[in-house]
Amino acid sequence: MKVAVVGATGMVGNIMLKVLEERNFPYTELILVASERSVGKQISYKGINYTVIGMQEAVDETPDIAIFSAGGNTSLDWAPKFAKVGTTVIDNSSAWRMNPNNKLIVPEINANKLTKEDKIIANPNCSTIQLVMALAPLHKKYTIKRLVVSTYQSITGTGVKAVQQLENEYKGVKGEMAYHYPIHKNAIPHCDVFEENGYTKEEMKLVREPQKILNDNTIAITATAVRIPVVGGHSESVNIEFENFFNEADVRKLLNETSGITVQDNLDTNTYPMPIYAEGKDDVFVGRIRRDESLPNTLNMWIVSDNLRKGAATNAVQIAEYLIENKLV
Ligand SMILES: NC(=O)c1ccc[n+]([C@@H]2O[C@H](COP(=O)([O-])OP(=O)(O)OC[C@H]3O[C@@H](n4cnc5c(N)ncnc54)[C@H](OP(=O)(O)O)[C@@H]3O)[C@@H](O)[C@H]2O)c1
Repeated sequence: MKVAVVGATGMVGNIMLKVLEERNFPYTELILVASERSVGKQISYKGINYTVIGMQEAVDETPDIAIFSAGGNTSLDWAPKFAKVGTTVIDNSSAWRMNPNNKLIVPEINANKLTKEDKIIANPNCSTIQLVMALAPLHKKYTIKRLVVSTYQSITGTGVKAVQQLENEYKGVKGEMAYHYPIHKNAIPHCDVFEENGYTKEEMKLVREPQKILNDNTIAITATAVRIPVVGGHSESVNIEFENFFNEADVRKLLNETSGITVQDNLDTNTYPMPIYAEGKDDVFVGRIRRDESLPNTLNMWIVSDNLRKGAATNAVQIAEYLIENKLV
């Protein structure tokens, strides 16, 4: 099993290597790939020194699996070239997510749709993954009619440049800006670029991707995505209107029984999810579960997860594991 990590020098790539190691991923050969800027760079991993190679060299190596975290354009250009030589690409960018020919996979929800023919598999957006993890069991039981989601997103979601910007601002030094504005002591209601309808691309990912993953275009969704000076994970305030009556205790029980979800919800002990505690963990944490008293069959809750782990690297590695376990590569 020859595995290529494309974007190995980046924020997600770095966590990808960590997750592969922690999960004892069964590769026999590992190829670390990045842009021409990094070719020749040495990365020490599990006691071995790897030399970073470029894209064409990586294609020529014909890996069995290539996990891409190298931006949308890189993926658009290169994923088909890997696919052509027989590599199965798992892509973390937004390039292929809404393409009807590519599957958008959260293993706990819809990995069973994968076949050997799927050569470019899309990993959903980080804020989508944690959202659908909590929505899927609830939708199955109570049928979601409408969803209002507001996000409070970690700067690690923007990559290494954003983390550097915040560090510079802490220290009061000038440097390259990942955002249009300072992020230290700020909240920026602008994640990714604006679309024609006045929403950001991040907000529209939260509208479109859950419908595709849950295979239900009737769910009405609206979103506001905000960047805050936090590392460790994205938080989401979610308001869900169901078709059917629910009982809050049953919702807690159902989520608690769902693999990959941990309910942290005890008001007596001030227990609720927070990014500072989600950092480095694979689970999606749900709390502040309460009835919306202004509407029938409507629920509020708070969802937190490490965007670099389940929101990116862990989900991608789980897809790769599924492919191997089910002999799809
Ligand atoms: N951060 C998150 O929470 C998150 C979550 C889900 C998905 N994603 C997606 O994952 C991707 C990477 O995000 P990131 O946060 O890790 O960004 P990042 O820290 O900026 O890292 C980008 C990586 O891509 C490589 N790269 C850039 N241009 C390339 C090219 N032309 N050819 C080959 N490699 C190239 C970079 O290599 P060099 O070091 O050589 O420049 C680096 O390894 C993006 O598509 C992002 O949307 C991120």
